[in-house]
Amino acid sequence: MEKKITLTGITTTGTPHLGNYVGAIRPAVISSHSANQKSFFFLADYHALIKNKDKNLIYKSTTEIAASWLALGLNTDNAIFYRQSDIPEIAELTWILNCVTSKGLMNRSHAYKSTVQTNIEGNEDADFGVTMGLFSYPVLMAADILLFKANTVPVGRDQIQHVEMARDIAQRFNHLYGQVFQLPEVKINQNVDTLVGLDGRKMSKSYNNIIPIFASEKQLKKNINKIKTNLLEPGQPKDPDDSLVFQFWKAFAHQPKIDEMRDKFQNGISWGEAKKELFVLINNELAEPRDRYNELMSDPEKIESYLIEGASKAREISLPFIKEIREAVGINTLQKIKS
Ligand code: TRP
Repeated sequence: MEKKITLTGITTTGTPHLGNYVGAIRPAVISSHSANQKSFFFLADYHALIKNKDKNLIYKSTTEIAASWLALGLNTDNAIFYRQSDIPEIAELTWILNCVTSKGLMNRSHAYKSTVQTNIEGNEDADFGVTMGLFSYPVLMAADILLFKANTVPVGRDQIQHVEMARDIAQRFNHLYGQVFQLPEVKINQNVDTLVGLDGRKMSKSYNNIIPIFASEKQLKKNINKIKTNLLEPGQPKDPDDSLVFQFWKAFAHQPKIDEMRDKFQNGISWGEAKKELFVLINNELAEPRDRYNELMSDPEKIESYLIEGASKAREISLPFIKEIREAVGINTLQKIKS
């Protein structure tokens, strides 16, 4: 049986936090160890350029995200892990796809529309701050997906439309030039939004409520102490289903331990005690990867070598395929036609 191809990108803006870990990285690491799946994970640094113009941040985030995925145990023998900008065929395909993508389709993109909406509400020109990069963001994403013939693309809800657009673009291309592209399917990553932030809203840098995955032990403890609770005293029964501390607990504990903590809540465990136990639980899972992370961060060349190896595996696929795509549209080596 042909192996199913799964592919997903991580935009290199920001420091990876526990929400990313629980929602995206941990499941991806698990799937990278599964023999009956072929997976592609990549650092979407071209996408990062759309959102952020701070070159130091892009560089720092690329290093941190790569180090995090590697430190957390991504199996790079089985999964292909690379940096988008190391694959020139992605940029090339983006142009080819631009030429079959209707502007009308891009006009419907949520990300673009919400910028326009904000502009209008703020009495700005509708196009204020809208770059061609933002406008055609879904085309670059379609190239990422279609170049590697992905069957499934696991993403959070905010990215569903982009995968659907990749499908539309592939269909349009196939209609014009023949069956070249595999149509991708979105796989909604149910876990993505499960981990809340310190204040109960979605964990996100823009809410300033994140816990970085590789905070030091001391920082992790401090962060956990900041998780919002209520005023119930030690000894008073607490409702686990109405507690952020318990939500974090559930994201890291196995079932028997979840049941145990549920009982402790009903028996009135103090918030201080519950948080202490939560710290031990999370820290146990992250302590070893943290050492590996710190080691990698002090040796960027080592990280680079993983990425170069990943890019070379990815290009074994993208190079012959881009040739096929070029031929499909009529960009070809000139030669005498044999009669
Ligand atoms: N745009 C995605 C995000 O912000 C990241 C991404 C880029 C991606 N290319 C992709 C995800 C291809 C899936 C497939 O989350």
